[in-house]
Amino acid sequence: MHNILILGSGGREHALGWKLDKSPLTDKIYFGPGNAGTAEIGHNLDLSPLNFTEVHNAVREYKIDYILVGPEAPLVNGITDFFRDKEVKVIGPGKDAAQLEGSKSFANAFMDKYGIPTAASVNITKQNIEDGYDLIDRTQGPIVLKADGLAAGKGVLILEDKAEAKRQLKAMIINTKFGKASEKVVIEEFLDGIEFSVFVLTDGEGYQILPVAKDYKRIGEGDTGLNTGGMGAISPPPFVDEKLMKKVRKQIIEPTVKGINNEKFDYKGFIFFGLINVDGQPKVIEYNVRMGDPETEAVIPRIKSDLMDLFVKLHKGKINKAELEVKKKTAATIMLVSQGYPEAYEKGKPITIDQSIEKSLVFHAGTKKKDYDTVTNGGRVLAVTSFGKDHHTALKKSLDNISKIHFEGMHHRKDIGFDL
Ligand code: AMP
Ligand code: GLY
Repeated sequence: MHNILILGSGGREHALGWKLDKSPLTDKIYFGPGNAGTAEIGHNLDLSPLNFTEVHNAVREYKIDYILVGPEAPLVNGITDFFRDKEVKVIGPGKDAAQLEGSKSFANAFMDKYGIPTAASVNITKQNIEDGYDLIDRTQGPIVLKADGLAAGKGVLILEDKAEAKRQLKAMIINTKFGKASEKVVIEEFLDGIEFSVFVLTDGEGYQILPVAKDYKRIGEGDTGLNTGGMGAISPPPFVDEKLMKKVRKQIIEPTVKGINNEKFDYKGFIFFGLINVDGQPKVIEYNVRMGDPETEAVIPRIKSDLMDLFVKLHKGKINKAELEVKKKTAATIMLVSQGYPEAYEKGKPITIDQSIEKSLVFHAGTKKKDYDTVTNGGRVLAVTSFGKDHHTALKKSLDNISKIHFEGMHHRKDIGFDL
C-alpha cells in the first residue's frame, strides 16, 4: 500500500486521483493544493507545488511514497532532482529532460539530433533579430513565432501579416513581451493538418502508450476566438488509425525514448506528444513532460488497468512488463468555464450539481469549498466526461448532464468533436 501526493489543482489532478483511488495498492491520497472535488477523495494540503521545502515537509509528515506532478512548472524547476535519493519517488522527469517542454529550441535540437519529424525552425535573439525580419519577409503563408520558454500556454503566435509578425517578434525579444521566456524566439515552419495528442508513460527504456486524444483549445464554437487551456477533449479521435499510430510509434515515440536513454536523462513519467497529421505524416508540434488538461479527463477514465501498479512498475524500470488494458468506448469531455475566461473573470460563484447526474463523471478544476457551498475558483471550473459507442453518443450524454449543473456565467462549447 502506498501513499501518494498529487501536485496541482485542476481537472487533470482530480481525474488522476479518482483513478488512483480505485487501486488496491493505494493507501492515502493527498493533493497539493487540490480543489473541492479532490477533497472528496483525499486530503487537500495547503502547499505550493513550487515550494519544494513545503512539499518535503508534507512528504515527511504524511509518509508519502510517491509524488505525482500534474503541471510542468515544478518539473522544469527541478522537483525531481530535489527529491532524488530522498525517501519519496517522483513521477515526472528531471530538470534536464523537462527542457523538452521548458525550451522550444532545446526540444527542436533534440528532435534534430534523433531524426524526429517536426517543423523546420530558426532561433532568434537580440543578436540576430535582423535575420528574423529577413526570414519573415521570405516566408510564404502564416508565420509561427514561439517564445522559447514557458509562457503559460500563451507563447505561440501565428500571424498572417508580415509587418505584424515583425512587430510581434520585436515585442517578444526587445520588449520581453513574455518576460525571460521570449528573450529567445523560435520561428517555425507552419504545419497544416489536424492535431492530436499521444501520451506515453516511460521509465527511460520501455514505455506504454496510453489512449490517444484530441483537445479543443479555442474558446469559441468552430475553433474560433482566443486560445484557452482547453475546452474539451475526445478519446480516441476516430481519424487516428493503426496505420497512423504505427508511424507515430516508429518515427516519434521510439526515437524519443531512445534519445532520452542516450542522453542519460532521468525520466520516469509521462511524455505528451502534441502531434499534427500532415497528409498522413505525423509531426511533433510540441513535447510536454506531463499529462494534458483536459485530455487527462478523457484518457484516464478509458484505462482499465491499475494506475498505481503502473507507477510502481515505472519506478522499478519494468514499465515494459506492465499490461495496459483500455476501454473500447469513446470518452468525451466538456469543460465548463467562467464568464469572461480566458480573459478576466469573477470567482466565488456558488455551483449546484443535481444529484440526478448519471453516467457522467464530473471532475473539478477551479472550485473550492466555502462554508457549506462549492464555489468557482478559476477560469476552467468543471470537466464533464461521458462514454459512448462513438463521440456523438458520448458528447450527447455529457451535454444532457451539463443541463443539470449551474453556476452564474457558466459557459461551455457545444460543438466539441465538430470536425471529426
Ligand atoms: P503550443 O503552445 O506549442 O501548444 O502551440 C499552441 C498551438 O499553436 C498548437 O496547438 C498549434 O495549434 C499551433 N502551432 C504550434 N506550432 C505550430 C506549427 N509549427 N504549425 C502550425 N501550428 C502550430
Ligand atoms: N490541453 C493542452 C495542455 O494540457 O497543454
